[in-house]
Amino acid sequence: MGRVIAVVSGKGGVGKTTITANLGIALAKRGLNVCIIDADIAMANLSLLLNMQNSPITLHDVLLGEADIQDALYDAPSGMKFVPSGLSLENYKRVDSERLQSVIDSIKNQFDFIFLDGAAGIEKNVLAAISASDEVLLVTAPTSPSIADVLKAKITAQRLGSKPIGVILNFVRNEKGEIKKEDVMKLLELPVLVSVPFDDEIRKSFMQETVMPVMVRKPGTPAAVAIQKAAAKLAGISLKIEDVPKQGFLAKLFAMFKRKPKEAVKK
Ligand SMILES: Nc1ncnc2c1ncn2[C@@H]1O[C@H](COP(=O)(O)OP(=O)(O)O)[C@@H](O)[C@H]1O
Ligand SMILES: [Mg+2]
Repeated sequence: MGRVIAVVSGKGGVGKTTITANLGIALAKRGLNVCIIDADIAMANLSLLLNMQNSPITLHDVLLGEADIQDALYDAPSGMKFVPSGLSLENYKRVDSERLQSVIDSIKNQFDFIFLDGAAGIEKNVLAAISASDEVLLVTAPTSPSIADVLKAKITAQRLGSKPIGVILNFVRNEKGEIKKEDVMKLLELPVLVSVPFDDEIRKSFMQETVMPVMVRKPGTPAAVAIQKAAAKLAGISLKIEDVPKQGFLAKLFAMFKRKPKEAVKK
């Protein structure tokens, strides 16, 4: 039986879709059977990020009872499977998100991990995604409004019987005023699996010519390395970081010159 994990946040734009796609790919690259589902029934951003927005059969069709879930499972990068959400607003209004639970139950034994990427907040479709999951992964930025909202999502998950398993802190810049990892753990009473730094390579994922998750394009970039760490923790496997660029002789030499002398650091 696979683990069904909903990726949730309070606020939008904190990185749920980015984390879902890259976490899925990281686990698939380690040989696990992974399915990621675009359960953001209204916005379908995951489909855009994977460049699969034109898939003929979608979760909308399945939830409308007009298609079988097996026909909505598409091949995605690194051997992962992907269920796209539809783009039609007409269908969106008709979709019955409460069917999600039985749809997911019917594919649970095909995978080690099923991730649900939902919308922000705690509206009806998000509640359906949380109810259909066994566990919830919280994503937040290190700011108080984002953490206050993700706390609501955590409490909602507990009420719906889905277990919050940890937090991914995203957009970390280590700037003054950011809430520290230790404080996030205290506030949310959950482990922080990993801090994902702000990384321009992630932002580029949505740019026209390079629409593809960073885990495929550049797995060695700092944010992707952090997500690989989260993947290893989730699966309980040892970390084997892929593609971290080796420092060549010249880079090492420059790094030595750039280092501050000890005296200067003390001041
Ligand atoms: N660690 C990061 N560094 C830089 N940009 C990021 C990072 N995480 C996400 N982004 C960017 O922020 C935007 C929102 O991310 P997204 O995953 O769509 O959030 P959500 O699904 O929570 O709404 C996207 O443009 C994405 O590329
Ligand atoms: Mg999203």
